[in-house]
This record gives sequence, C-alpha cells and structure tokens, in this order.
Amino acid sequence: MKILGISGSLRKDSLNTAALRAAQQLVPAGSTLEIFSLAEIPIYNEDVRGNGHPAPVQKLRDAIKAAEAVVIACPEYNYSFSGVLKNAIDWASRPPEQPFDGKKIALLGASPGMLGTSRAQYHLRQVFIFMNGKILNKPEVFIAAADKKFDDKGNLTDEKTREVIGKMLAALVNS
Ligand code: FNR
Repeated sequence: MKILGISGSLRKDSLNTAALRAAQQLVPAGSTLEIFSLAEIPIYNEDVRGNGHPAPVQKLRDAIKAAEAVVIACPEYNYSFSGVLKNAIDWASRPPEQPFDGKKIALLGASPGMLGTSRAQYHLRQVFIFMNGKILNKPEVFIAAADKKFDDKGNLTDEKTREVIGKMLAALVNS
C-alpha cells in the first residue's frame, strides 16, 4: 500500500514529524510511507483559490489522490489540532474532487503532556466525518510524555509506542 504521511507541525525537531519518520520504518512489508511537508502551503484565501489552486496546494491534492491511505501526525494546540493542518485540509478540500473522500486515514499524535493529543485527534475525526474519510478506529495512537520517548536525534526509542504504531499501520493496510 502506498501511504502518504502528513505532519501538522513545521518545526525542525517536531515530535510529530519524528513519529511519522518512525512510522516509515514500521510499515508492513510491501507498503511505503512518504512524508509530505506542509511548509509551502499558503494561508487559505478564497480569492486566491478563485484563480485556481496554488502549485503547492495542487501538489498536496495530487499526493493525497495518488496515495491509497493517509497517516496524519498532528500536535495538539489549545486542545485541538494545529492551524497548519487545518489550513492544509481546508485548501485540499475545495472542489473539484475532494481528495479525502473515501480515503483510508489513520491518526497519531505526540505531546509532552499526559493525553498524547487525544483531544486534537477527536476534533480531527469530526472534520473527516464531513470529508467522508474512512478513519481507522483502532488502535488509537496517543504518544503521551513524548519528550521522553525520542532520543536527541528524534528516533523513537519507546518500544511500546513502536509496537502500537506498527499495529495501527497493519490495521490500516488490512482495512
Ligand atoms: C501546545 N502544546 C500543547 N500540548 C498539549 O498536549 N495540549 C495542548 O492543548 C497544547 N497546546 C499548545 C498550544 C501551542 C500554541 C503550542 C505551541 C504548544 C504543547 C505541544 O504539544 C508541544 O509543543 C509539542 O511538542 C508540539 O508538537 P511538535 O511540534 O513537537 O510536533
């Protein structure tokens, strides 16, 4: 399965992007996970969209369409998911051909806090109901106390977390 990974953080040392990189190593045999950076996506403006999707947005839409599944790793900001991710979803969602329609989607998230982005992920699930995404229900991946689960190079060192990400990816591929 060809999987697209999207991180809702632009930070160089992002824990969420690091979790996506770990997921790249944990995909089942025969599957690939390519990470798409949201760094070039402009701030949404309906007037701009009136002239067509900007090139980085078109690239994102094409990458989502070409993938059989999408894995999103997103930080929790103020009890919801990041504006960076919402902005990208808003751009990608505009007609024609909303690319998340019917797409298999799995979520994960990392936070130094104790709830591991659960509140953000439930907001994201709500958004994908409207987009008609096929959201994987289980296993959920909430990486709590994430600052202690990666080494200083951003490698995921916590075995239990590696295990649950592997199970989530297997469930996604078999869904
Ligand atoms: C946060 N952080 C945070 N954490 C959390 O668990 N719940 C929250 O509601 C928030 N709110 C919040 C708001 C803003 C504006 C920032 C910048 C941060 C902390 C956040 O989880 C932490 O900075 C993560 O490291 C961000 O993810 P990346 O960039 O490491 O992927």
